[in-house]
Amino acid sequence: MKRSVIDILDLSTAEIDALLSTAEDIMDHPEKYAEKCHGKKLATLFFEPSTRTRLSFEAAMMELGGNVLGFSEASSSSASKGESMADTAKVLSCYADIMAIRHPMAGAPFVAAQNASVPVINAGDGGHAHPTQTLADLLTIKRKKGTLENLTIGFCGDLKYGRTVHSLIAALSRYKGTKVVLISPKELALPSYVKYENMEPAGVPYTETTDLESALPELDILYMTRIQRERFPDPYEYERLKDSYILTAEKMERAKDDAIVMHPLPRVNEISVAVDKDDRACYFLQVLCGKFMRMALILKLLESAKEDIVPAENGIVREDVMCKNPACITAKEQELVQKFRLVNAENKIYRCIYCEEKVQLS
Ligand code: CP
Repeated sequence: MKRSVIDILDLSTAEIDALLSTAEDIMDHPEKYAEKCHGKKLATLFFEPSTRTRLSFEAAMMELGGNVLGFSEASSSSASKGESMADTAKVLSCYADIMAIRHPMAGAPFVAAQNASVPVINAGDGGHAHPTQTLADLLTIKRKKGTLENLTIGFCGDLKYGRTVHSLIAALSRYKGTKVVLISPKELALPSYVKYENMEPAGVPYTETTDLESALPELDILYMTRIQRERFPDPYEYERLKDSYILTAEKMERAKDDAIVMHPLPRVNEISVAVDKDDRACYFLQVLCGKFMRMALILKLLESAKEDIVPAENGIVREDVMCKNPACITAKEQELVQKFRLVNAENKIYRCIYCEEKVQLS
C-alpha cells in the first residue's frame, strides 16, 4: 500500500508547513519544477461535478511535466455499470502513478486507497472532507495574514455538509491561538464529531450563532460557504434555507479593515458580486493557491510512493451493526466490511471508518 491523503490529518503539521514552503517556492521558481514529473501520469476520477479541483489537479500535473488521464462524470465510467470503487482503484493503478478521486459518497476515496497500489488523494467525498481545498485555504491565509496562528475565523453557511469547513477546522485546530465562530442555521450546524474530536481536544474556543452581522466585527477571516442543493435529502428544506446568508458590500462595512473573506467556490448568491471589488475578498487567490499546493502534494506523494507503507489497523468489525448514514459509501457498496473506530470508551461511542457517522455500540 502507498501513502495517500484522504483526510487533512493524514498530514502532520510539519508536513503541511513543508508543503506550504514547496508551494511558495514553485510560485517563485516554476522553471525548477517544470520536468519533475516527466514520465508520470495522474488519473483524475471525478464521480461528481467539479471545475476547480479537477482542472487544478490537471494543470498542476501538466506544469510538473507529467500527463493526465481520467473522467469527469460517473456516467462515462464503468461505475455506471456497477463496478465497485475497489475494482476501479485496482484498474486505475495499472494506468497511473497517482490518482485524485472525487465522489458523492463519503468514504469512497478511503476505499480506493485501501485497494490501489499507487497514492490516492481525496478530491472531496460527499459532505465529509476535502483536504486539498484545505491546503489551498492554508496557503491563502498564510499569504494574506502572514501566519496561521492566533486567528479568529468565522465559518458561515452550510456547516453540516460543508466538507471544506470540516477539513479546515481540523487543520487550524492544530495551530496556536485559533478561535472559531460557527455561523449557520440550526439545521445546518457543524457535525458533533468536528467539535468533539477536533476543536475540543485541541482546546480551540468556539461559539455558535445564527447572526452573521453581529459576528463580523471580531473576525480575522470570514469563510463563506454555499448552501449545497445536492446534499439535501429534502428539496423543500433546501428552498427554505438557501438564502440564509448573503454577504453584501454594506455588511462588509462591519468587518475589520484587515479581515479577509474566503470561499471555496462555486458561489451562488451568498457573496454578492459587488464584494469582489473589496481588497479583502480572497476567493480567487484561493483558486490560484490550490494549483500550487496540489503541485506540492503530487511531488510529495510520488516521492513517498517509492516505498510501501504498512496499512494502519483502522477499526473493529461488527457484523451486527451497520452505518446508518445514507451518504456513506457502505450504503452504496454493501459488500464493504462495516468497521468502526472507538472515539469515546466511557460512552462506547464509535464512528464509521468510512464516513465518521457516530454509532453507539453495546
Ligand atoms: N472548491 C471546489 O471544490 O470547487 P469545485 O467543486 O469546482 O472543484
